[in-house]
Amino acid sequence: MTTTPVPEARTVLIVGDADEPRETTSRVLADRGFLEPERVETIAAAATRLRGEAFDLVVLPIGGAGPQELSLIEHDIRRAAPFIIGTAKDATQALILSALRAGIPEFVATPLNAEELDVAIRRLVQRMEPGLMTRGKIIAVYSAKGGLGTTSVAVNLATAIAREHPSDRVALVDFVVVGGDVRVVLDLKPAYDIGDLVMKVDRIDGPLLSSLMTPGPAGMLVLPSSDRPEVQDLIEANAASAILSQLRAHFPYVVLDLEHYLGERTIGALDAADHIVLVTQLSVPALRSTQRTLNLFNRLGYAPAKVAVVVNRSNAESPLTISDAETVLGRPITAKLPNDFTACADATTKGVPVLEYEPGSALSNGFRHLASALAGASEPTVTSPTGNSNGHGHGNGTGNGTSHSESDVRKRRLFRLGRS
Ligand SMILES: Nc1ncnc2c1ncn2[C@@H]1O[C@H](COP(=O)(O)OP(=O)(O)OP(=O)(O)O)[C@@H](O)[C@H]1O
Ligand SMILES: [Mg+2]
Repeated sequence: MTTTPVPEARTVLIVGDADEPRETTSRVLADRGFLEPERVETIAAAATRLRGEAFDLVVLPIGGAGPQELSLIEHDIRRAAPFIIGTAKDATQALILSALRAGIPEFVATPLNAEELDVAIRRLVQRMEPGLMTRGKIIAVYSAKGGLGTTSVAVNLATAIAREHPSDRVALVDFVVVGGDVRVVLDLKPAYDIGDLVMKVDRIDGPLLSSLMTPGPAGMLVLPSSDRPEVQDLIEANAASAILSQLRAHFPYVVLDLEHYLGERTIGALDAADHIVLVTQLSVPALRSTQRTLNLFNRLGYAPAKVAVVVNRSNAESPLTISDAETVLGRPITAKLPNDFTACADATTKGVPVLEYEPGSALSNGFRHLASALAGASEPTVTSPTGNSNGHGHGNGTGNGTSHSESDVRKRRLFRLGRS
């Protein structure tokens, strides 16, 4: 399914010479998606025009406005156009106060400066979009090694959150910015990708952002990675952070599928995240790499509560247990996701999340538990579908012996427990 960007056709009415210098105003307005301005000479003429026609924004001079004009603004103009910018040469305290009283929310001094005008317009545009000021939650899914299930967890976690919070907008973003798997796993045919977004990031707003994303399962919107190699360099740390703040401003939940390489872009995303889901498996290489990642997170100053360790593909045959993982990592496991090769393979072939393909499976249950741990509370709470998550004791699960058994000695050596 594809979408076409619908440029916002915002209209503006300018009164007299409120917008001097005109070239500056025209440029800033055009950049923010406004049509060519309509003009009238006086505040009284604006009030008359607004009786028969709606405008999104009115820019008017308040420098010489007397009580009669202020009353026109307050009663006639404001009713028809709630977004007004007042301009004047001398911004005295008294003038700004009377403008505010008349319901003019923004004031900019003339001659207009592009930056100041843009800030004022941006604030108004933000107010035009209900719900925009919400600060969404970013959940970053990461693993230092490839193939442990990062993409699977990101896709199904986003689906579970979208299902559990149907009135909230959920974004799934492939932050493996070139050649990521989200579009493949969900069989998307996106018209746009993260590369198109980065080109427009400084003038993005809610409608434009949504139009660049592709509808995915459970009503979520997906921002897929690009196929163009040059996007790799385009999305450096600053651009990545701009993309994240836009997403956070427009979506209550943003789930990121991160690349394994810890470059500046990925570290920036981890920094920005409210929660990090660190995916691991019950194998020696996976746990050792997770150990190193947790040490690094510690050095980066992440609070332990920010990081939720998730064990993927656990099964009864694994020689290592959840309890081993907790001992090795020195922290509880937030969720344990069972190994389910058939469900995963079939869901991928169909291009749908496991959660939609087999909603009743233990694996789907695991994803739902993880979603409610992360999206239900402000900090990840320790929950596990099997109730295995809190203990640090030995010998549960597959019965691997006592803490002094031969296998435990080997495990301690493998994971260098007791050394720094
Ligand atoms: N719980 C699971 N049970 C069975 N198979 C799984 C499970 N989770 C993931 N897989 C499978 O493991 C493979 C790797 O998963 P995935 O692509 O999600 O990992 P990744 O960390 O994103 O990999 P990459 O390094 O390629 O980005 C996929 O074939 C996926 O279907
Ligand atoms: Mg992946």
